[in-house]
Amino acid sequence: MDSHTKWKAATLLTWLLTTEISHCLPHVGNEVEATLRNTATEPARAFRTQYPPVNSESRLIIPESHPVYRVALEQDGHSSEQPFPDFDIDDFIDGLGDFLDEEDDNEEDDTNTDTTTEPPPTATGQSTSADTGKPDPVQATTSAKQPEDLTPIPTAGSVTSSPQAKPSTTEAQEPVDTNISPGVGTHDPTTMNGQDIFQPVATGPVPANIQSRHDHPLQNQHADTTDPITTNKFYAGLFLGSQTNATFSQPYSLAWSKGGGTLKSWGMTVTHTQPHLLAYGPKNNKIPGNPVQYYINPVGLQHLVFSAAELDQSSIMTVEQLKAFSANAVIKRSGGSAQQITFPIVQGMGYTTAVYNDLQPLIESGIFFRKVVSAGSPRPGIFKYQVELEDDTTWLLYATPADGKDPNFKLDSKTNIRGPKGFSGTIQAAKNPAGKSGEKFYDNSCGVYPVSGEVSGSVTGDVGNYMLSWTKAGKDVKGTPLIMFALPHHVQSFDSATKGRITDIRLRTTTKGNATAVIGESWTMVEENLPIDMGFAPWSTTQGSIHDLSATAQHAIIQAAPTELKQNISGQTALNSMYYSGKALSKFATLVYTVNQLGNNVDIAADAFRQLKKAFNLFVQNKQENPLAYDTVWKGVVSTAGYNGDLNQDFGNTAYNDHHFHYGYFIQAAAIIGALDPSWLTANKEWVNMLVRDAGNSVANDAHFPFSRSFDWYNGHSWAKGLFESFDGKDQESTSEDTMFAYSIKMWGQTTGDASMEARGNMMLGILGRSLNNYFLMEDDNVNQPSNFIANKVTGILFENKVDHTTYFGANLEYVQGIHMLPLMPHSPFTRRKEFVRQEWQAMFAENAATPASKVKDGWKGVLYANLALIDPKASWEFFTQPNFDYSWIDGGASRTWYMAFAAGLGGA
Ligand SMILES: *[C@@H]1O[C@H](CO)[C@@H](O)[C@H](O)[C@H]1NC(C)=O
Ligand SMILES: *[C@@H]1O[C@H](CO)[C@@H](O)[C@H](O)[C@H]1NC(C)=O
Ligand SMILES: *[C@@H]1O[C@H](CO)[C@@H](O)[C@H](O)[C@H]1NC(C)=O
Repeated sequence: MDSHTKWKAATLLTWLLTTEISHCLPHVGNEVEATLRNTATEPARAFRTQYPPVNSESRLIIPESHPVYRVALEQDGHSSEQPFPDFDIDDFIDGLGDFLDEEDDNEEDDTNTDTTTEPPPTATGQSTSADTGKPDPVQATTSAKQPEDLTPIPTAGSVTSSPQAKPSTTEAQEPVDTNISPGVGTHDPTTMNGQDIFQPVATGPVPANIQSRHDHPLQNQHADTTDPITTNKFYAGLFLGSQTNATFSQPYSLAWSKGGGTLKSWGMTVTHTQPHLLAYGPKNNKIPGNPVQYYINPVGLQHLVFSAAELDQSSIMTVEQLKAFSANAVIKRSGGSAQQITFPIVQGMGYTTAVYNDLQPLIESGIFFRKVVSAGSPRPGIFKYQVELEDDTTWLLYATPADGKDPNFKLDSKTNIRGPKGFSGTIQAAKNPAGKSGEKFYDNSCGVYPVSGEVSGSVTGDVGNYMLSWTKAGKDVKGTPLIMFALPHHVQSFDSATKGRITDIRLRTTTKGNATAVIGESWTMVEENLPIDMGFAPWSTTQGSIHDLSATAQHAIIQAAPTELKQNISGQTALNSMYYSGKALSKFATLVYTVNQLGNNVDIAADAFRQLKKAFNLFVQNKQENPLAYDTVWKGVVSTAGYNGDLNQDFGNTAYNDHHFHYGYFIQAAAIIGALDPSWLTANKEWVNMLVRDAGNSVANDAHFPFSRSFDWYNGHSWAKGLFESFDGKDQESTSEDTMFAYSIKMWGQTTGDASMEARGNMMLGILGRSLNNYFLMEDDNVNQPSNFIANKVTGILFENKVDHTTYFGANLEYVQGIHMLPLMPHSPFTRRKEFVRQEWQAMFAENAATPASKVKDGWKGVLYANLALIDPKASWEFFTQPNFDYSWIDGGASRTWYMAFAAGLGGA
């Protein structure tokens, strides 16, 4: 892996939307005629400009004509290598017979010797713990509904008096009861029925043979904390590199302007992109429906900027309180200055909130203010301004001065609103697409804001509940409910109490459809039909776990296995890559399991099992070519491959890319080994638990690892990108390897008797099933992705800011679709729903499609035919059991033997 082929960027262009065009600065000066009124009784005059504003023309570009930058994917730590190790098949094939021709059905003893499954927990009904003993949800329902008889905010450009001449708290709706939410800001397992899913995995230090290193190639410059840092979260752009890339809190995106852009501001930009501004890639004529290859949200649009007159090139930004759902960005006038603006950035926050300390507020807009109206006080001590921008959008500003005095904001120019000198207090901004009704909800919650979030959850029977809750701060904090934006997959699974607090405010997110504003400090989501009975054996949605394969299938497994069992296990697993090594260990563990438990033959796998344990032990001893180290800078366990400075090594593992992918394979292999040989656990459990804690820790107070590095409990899936600065935020390519991680901890929890971990894995599978269906694996009726993109069937790589139907290693259809299939495992039928698989197969891989599976080469052919088992197990079975099978069709992370069992279990034989 010495060279990384440059990714063929020429096929994939995206557009630099941040080009500075200084001469396009809006002309200000004597044209400025508007002033803000500080009383709502006098009409405020509107400030007009044309739209689109000149400074945004470079962003409203036609994609094909203005390619400005190429996506430099090689910087992302992703090599262009295939997602499985490449082994020379000839090394282990000699005299492969047409074993299937000798059809002597020897009836085997089919006693189920599977010791690895446990009886399904007793179902105790579907009562959701969070509902019990809480205020009547119906009450919340009514209070969150809005009257319809509201006059719209005056339309563009009209000069009018404030539509709320005498705003008052009584006119605004009754505040919604803020005590609806149980356990706000706390994680109290006693409020939960069933199994708490967030018990600690382990609390001790990492095993002594994992060297601690302080010399990580990327030193931490801007994150002000000694706690473990959540490397793969949505706000990494605040502390990485230039600190200028966007933080995708959804639906808003925030970015430090740092003297750049047309405004040359030093404040914090807030962006919310409308669908008509999306840039689309070229159409792919190979796919029915000719979907566009990608879509991208423009970056660099400055709808509002929270700044201060004093900020300049001596200003700095640090990041504090870095947590799973939130971080504080602090822009200081200069290093060490107490004059600063703190932005508590929380996923789903209803307003962008800026907490000023002793600065003169400057609210800027690169889209231009068309009209700003001082709209009185919706609540005592809070001063509201209605803002119209030249893109026809309506925003609300709420100022809550610490001294309670009217801050008397002035509109200086079409780009500037100015506040008083020495201002301390909060200023909040929200975009309001919902007219008077939306404004009332915002009025009702203004003054308070979330400062951090928390997830808790439990599983009872096959029903899982998880709750997102927030700690809040601000004025009249006890009596004022939060307003928070939920993603489509949240809303779908809300319990009835949470559903009752949904508002009619909807704002689109960058890559996940519409967000919906919800009142209150917590949401409870319910996932039913968790795959709690899924084990190591093939599993289907209708039949559950399938241990007892037909005699034909068992016979075929036992006939095929020896060829694969005699591979050089240490040779294939002792690699310089955690990814490839993990895949090979998983392959052999699954093979041994298949022979031992599904083929019911312990003997022929015995030697391979011994070798497998030896091969695994190399890693536990940390004697592999690139050993692991405990990185004390960011706090996690990384491959040392990248310590030579090339962070691309091993898919960026050293910079925290892909840990859930890499470690998921080790964890699944360990779960099998430990299930087949419980005595093995004593010496190995601590090491495997270390991998779990690194990639998916269950608690936020572990001094050694951050909470849930990869899985994002708000977005409902993992982010693979680690410490790489990026225009487009975090991303994830392989949804199936994300699922593999959830599955691996479920099974490791089961093997080690960690019921909390097992339940957490089940819960994560349930959430993934829903989120992948909503955002990544697109059926024809998908509503969350743009309609001209859906025919791609899979996202390819989903970033926070764009979605690109490709892979990091090439754009062949079997790669782009196949990376969402592998590894084909018991969890595959759970997340890859039949209807989706059928539509994808018809469009892409059927005989008459552009890329018939029968013509695909190499290991990808095996991947496609194993996937076919999800909808046509007989065809899949026939493929894998055909005489003169060509072993080059099996990728280095899979075995033909397991694929046979998989197809047979799903009904192929
Ligand atoms: C297995 O592979 C390793 C590493 O390539 C090699 O050193 C060893 O000799 C091989 N073992 C056998 C039995 O071929
Ligand atoms: C964003 O990140 C890229 C690296 O991906 C970097 O080149 C750029 O300067 C950063 N900032 C902005 C505003 O684009
Ligand atoms: C998203 O919101 C927009 C604007 O309210 C609406 O036009 C669109 O239909 C919504 N999409 C979905 C899928 O609900």
